[in-house]
Amino acid sequence: MSQHDERGGRSRHHDEPARDETASVPAPEEIRRIGLANALREVTAPLHRVAERAGVISDIVRGRSSRAAYALLLRNLYAVYDALEAGLERHRDSPAVGRLARPEVYRAEALRRDLATLYGGIDVALAVPLLPAGADYVDAVIDAGAGDGVRLIGHAYTRYLGDLSGGQTVSRVLAQTLGLAPDARHLYAFDVVEPLDAYKERYRDAIDQAAHETERPDAILAEAMRAFRLNVALFWAVKDATEAPDTPPTVAAAPSSGTGAHQ
Ligand code: HEM
Repeated sequence: MSQHDERGGRSRHHDEPARDETASVPAPEEIRRIGLANALREVTAPLHRVAERAGVISDIVRGRSSRAAYALLLRNLYAVYDALEAGLERHRDSPAVGRLARPEVYRAEALRRDLATLYGGIDVALAVPLLPAGADYVDAVIDAGAGDGVRLIGHAYTRYLGDLSGGQTVSRVLAQTLGLAPDARHLYAFDVVEPLDAYKERYRDAIDQAAHETERPDAILAEAMRAFRLNVALFWAVKDATEAPDTPPTVAAAPSSGTGAHQ
């Protein structure tokens, strides 16, 4: 894999055609047979390994990140979740997408609270412009919500099951290495009544059921692969932006008890 691919095609402008993700995914019947959730895990496994090692996420798990980088990541992810959750709600009555319209996992409100903490006010946070990679990701989510919106399921899988899984590790590391208080880590604090593992199983069941409500479960797989690549591109872009010598002061987050280098 070239460095360009490792970085999720980070230089691709969003006007360029997306790569054909459908070339490597199983046919609809096969997906329903093995279960869409299993198929998603299988086809995205190599991309998961890339994502874990990408840019700011890799820095976070190694304890090398900064509060400013984390804040900028959340600023961009906020716009992504906002678009995703608007799309899921718009398709709430759809038999396929409606199964994933689950407000108990929605993260936009949680992120608003994190951003207010990290930037010292939500208005300050939202005044920070999106990175081009963040804007690309938002555009892709809006595009996935067009028509029957079924491709939104690929985005929901990638972010929510990620936050419910590895996100829990990320949250612990952020507390240990950057001294981030719970007030800056709502992203990973899920208010679900059952243990997270049990909830994740139900989420996976809902994904499996959705595959029987659409003729295009293969499009969901392709979109999840695209979502992983968009995340990878964003993780590198955040790292690059916060390590650049001319980092604008707006991305330097408000002071706190954190130990990050960019305070
Ligand atoms: C350093 C960061 C990460 C770590 C340590 C990590 C770790 C894990 C682990 C241990 C699981 C398996 C949980 C289980 O089987 O119940 C998992 C699942 C998952 N992760 Fe990550 N992850 C990381 C980053 C990411 C990123 C950046 C994304 C996407 C943007 C992501 C998306 C997912 C998804 C979608 C699943 C669900 C897999 C499935 O059950 O189908 N992860 N992660």
